[in-house]
Amino acid sequence: MANKSKKLALLVGGIALGLGSLVHAADAPKPAAAPAPAAAPPAAPLVSGATAEALANTCAGCHGTAGVSVGPASPTLAGSNADYFKEIMKGYKEGTAYSTIMGRIAKGFSDEEIALMADYFAKAKFAPAKQKFDAALVKEGAKIHDKSCEKCHSEGGKVLAAAPADKKDKKAKKDDDDEEGGDEWQILAGQWTPYLKYTLEDYTASPARREMPKKMAKALEKVSKDGDKALAALLAYYASQQ
Ligand code: HEC
Ligand code: HEC
Repeated sequence: MANKSKKLALLVGGIALGLGSLVHAADAPKPAAAPAPAAAPPAAPLVSGATAEALANTCAGCHGTAGVSVGPASPTLAGSNADYFKEIMKGYKEGTAYSTIMGRIAKGFSDEEIALMADYFAKAKFAPAKQKFDAALVKEGAKIHDKSCEKCHSEGGKVLAAAPADKKDKKAKKDDDDEEGGDEWQILAGQWTPYLKYTLEDYTASPARREMPKKMAKALEKVSKDGDKALAALLAYYASQQ
């Protein structure tokens, strides 16, 4: 409960921040212009034929310009794998992926529009979130990651251009058997810590609000048994990757 309202508070902050910078950018050339109307975050269906960039701009209030988020509760999308992007948007749309906000937003877009955005964000350049982290915990976090998460979130959870060559076969096999564990495309390294924290809480909530592979559930169970410090160490490790 408390976490949920904290998340919403952060979100609202993120929206305010995002809109603030949009208004600022729009005003910059003509300081005398009336401020842009404080539009609600876009959920309205878009006219088909919109360009990828125009579509993606409707996400900027929360996910930042070109997908580099400046709000701690909205993830950076730049560098997302296009297939993962389409899959999670479909999940939001159909309600199989838990969300606070994205379900409503995703419903406003056709599959074609989502595919255009997937391509746009995949090509956008990832930039790590500028945030504080506990440097003393990074080493411990790296150890936990290597032991429990690296198998699927390879290279420390970095944005991957492609599956590392030695894992490509495994990835192909994995598609048949999700429990095997191959490369996953989620951005963990340099992603916003509050977003990661809330997302992990969604997986481990009882009853869980998002599905994950059994092996990830086991890994997370172990982390939570090891206490808050283990989770803090993992998050510090991801935040430290700049
Ligand atoms: C009002 C703020 C807001 C807007 C506008 C918004 N998002 Fe989101 N987005 C979020 C939040 C918050 C999450 C985390 C899931 C949730 O709780 O809804 C998220 C998650 C996502 C994710 C999952 C990322 C991951 O790594 O799993 C994708 C993809 C995404 N958004 C795409 C979009 C696209 C595309 C648009 C524009 C069409 C958009 N979002 C507009 C707030 C927003
Ligand atoms: C067996 C493979 C596997 C292992 C091991 C694993 N994960 Fe995952 N992880 C996944 C898959 C698959 C997803 C996407 C699930 C979904 O669609 O919601 C995921 C999603 C995530 C996400 C959500 C990212 C986002 O932006 O939506 C986080 C955070 C995450 N994992 C962290 C971890 C951590 C931390 C560990 C180690 C303690 C770990 N995972 C271990 C496979 C794994």
